[in-house]
Amino acid sequence: MTMWELVRGLSDQLRWAVDVDVPQVPDDRPVVVLGMGGSGMAAAVAALAAEGGRPVVVHRSYDLPSWAVPSGALVVAVSYSGNTEETLSGTRVARDAGLPVVGVTSGGRLRDLGVPVVAVPPGLPPRAAVGFQAGGALRILAAAGLVGDAPAALEEAADAVDAVLGDGDGPAITLGRDLAEALRHRIPVVYGGFPVGALAAYRWKTQVNENAKRPAYSGEVPEMNHNELEGWAEAAELGIRCVGIVRLRDAGDHPRVARRLDLVAEAVGDRAAFVGEVRSVGEGPLARFFTLAVVGDAASVALAEGLGVDPMPVDLIEGFKRRLGPG
Ligand code: PA5
Repeated sequence: MTMWELVRGLSDQLRWAVDVDVPQVPDDRPVVVLGMGGSGMAAAVAALAAEGGRPVVVHRSYDLPSWAVPSGALVVAVSYSGNTEETLSGTRVARDAGLPVVGVTSGGRLRDLGVPVVAVPPGLPPRAAVGFQAGGALRILAAAGLVGDAPAALEEAADAVDAVLGDGDGPAITLGRDLAEALRHRIPVVYGGFPVGALAAYRWKTQVNENAKRPAYSGEVPEMNHNELEGWAEAAELGIRCVGIVRLRDAGDHPRVARRLDLVAEAVGDRAAFVGEVRSVGEGPLARFFTLAVVGDAASVALAEGLGVDPMPVDLIEGFKRRLGPG
């Protein structure tokens, strides 16, 4: 499959998760969701949709947060390969402490640890399996009593993604291609409001990094209004030459966050080559996230295409893991 086909297959992945088998989990605990990179993204997307009175914390590192064992947390380990050492480390700590653990994986050592898993289809780049993994993790959170109607949320997100992707060149593809053209010789800086737009901005950044093999940065509003904003003060020449801003607007943005996003463009727009904008579609956080993210997925693949880069391999990441050696 090409990366374009994988981008266009996102809604099928979300629908797959509607019926997937999910192990039984306790419904009275706080939750830690482990994951790195593309799998950490899926973990964070699932956590976006969590509601109810218990915390759901995404942990992107080794071991577990200090409170996890004392509180008897449910641990959800998301690793597409099943071989990511940070995620395996937290999983082992949880298993050895007797915490309930469940994985989301296509195989690898995570499966060999003997924890129950949601088995996702193998053979994809992890970042291109985000629908499978986020959907699987979401269903686990629903089984833990933290998502009201996961199938409805998944269906709504899949329908919204279908609507923006269209049959061939829907608005998400057209906008993604246009933004990629504008960004071809520039560094993308993507801003979004906490929580949905900010997470989608981070997905944009990581997709440009991994698909187009280029630097890209993301910032979160309101936090960036308290630091990063000042970094534009003396950057007009540099910014106009090298930086394109993409602003992600979510219908669920807090009104003050929406106002801040307006003002960010006013404050720094003339210090960048251009300011592009993407708006979310849909009601639920999953639909809103994915309709912002899929434009970035398309932009990153179009950018790779324009630069003559193969979006599939991540040789630097793989080489880095090899140099690090077994953990
Ligand atoms: O996209 C990638 O290949 C990476 O970001 C991986 O997702 C990351 O290295 C973690 O690997 P895995 O998803 O297999 O746990």
